[in-house]
Amino acid sequence: MEYWQNAQENDVPTIPTFQHSLNIKLMENHRLRQTLDRIASFYNDYKVGYVGHEGYRKSTDLVKLGRCIEELAAHGFINPQNTIFLDLGCADGRVNVLMSYFVKHSVGIEIDPEILAEFNPRKEELTQKLQSENLMQPSDNIDLFHGNSLEAATYETIEGTINLRFEDIDLFYTYITLHDLFGAKIAQEAKANSLYLVYGFSKILPRYEGLEVIIPDVASQGIVALYGKGQF
Ligand SMILES: C[S@@+](CC[C@H](N)C(=O)[O-])C[C@H]1O[C@@H](n2cnc3c(N)ncnc32)[C@H](O)[C@@H]1O
Repeated sequence: MEYWQNAQENDVPTIPTFQHSLNIKLMENHRLRQTLDRIASFYNDYKVGYVGHEGYRKSTDLVKLGRCIEELAAHGFINPQNTIFLDLGCADGRVNVLMSYFVKHSVGIEIDPEILAEFNPRKEELTQKLQSENLMQPSDNIDLFHGNSLEAATYETIEGTINLRFEDIDLFYTYITLHDLFGAKIAQEAKANSLYLVYGFSKILPRYEGLEVIIPDVASQGIVALYGKGQF
């Protein structure tokens, strides 16, 4: 018997209503928030703050950054269809994992190969945990590179591997590290309207010639400022 022959008079097919779509969206947002919180607690167990042989290394608090990124997404500064993200000193790639949910491509550069080597085993462990807890997996859009973010050779490698240039980046990120030198490079070489997210300052913000402050305290977390190249 065909489906239509079996149908009763009252079996009206469900037409998705505005409320129905809204409920789905809210459920998706809730699951994303749960996933982000789980990722933050996972990486916070590996939170570091010490002086290593490549200088001072600290890790972003992903709970705070997560709130900031949700706000940037809600205001249309970033989106999963177009945004290319670069962490200029990515360490174990934790910020890249978080960003993979919000951007098209999540790229990182790390100068210390030993630190960068932490990325794969840690992400593997995280992925298993997310799976066992029925949470959302990171997108398959993360590419991390060993190199110096200030050197042209690093960007030649990146272009040769994933066909992205410095001028293609929409959103740059640093946790204090070399923020002034990175700011100068972005002001000189990045495309117009690119964004620079700096983690680690509150109240007294650094100024970068050629960049303007767009949001001095993103999501009121007291730790992240958003700069931009151009008129906003
Ligand atoms: C403060 S940690 C931040 C790590 C990560 N972005 C986070 O927020 O958790 C800065 C990282 O930048 C790396 N680094 C320092 N100078 C660099 C450079 N010129 N190019 C690329 N990475 C660099 C350090 O080795 C360190 O792992």
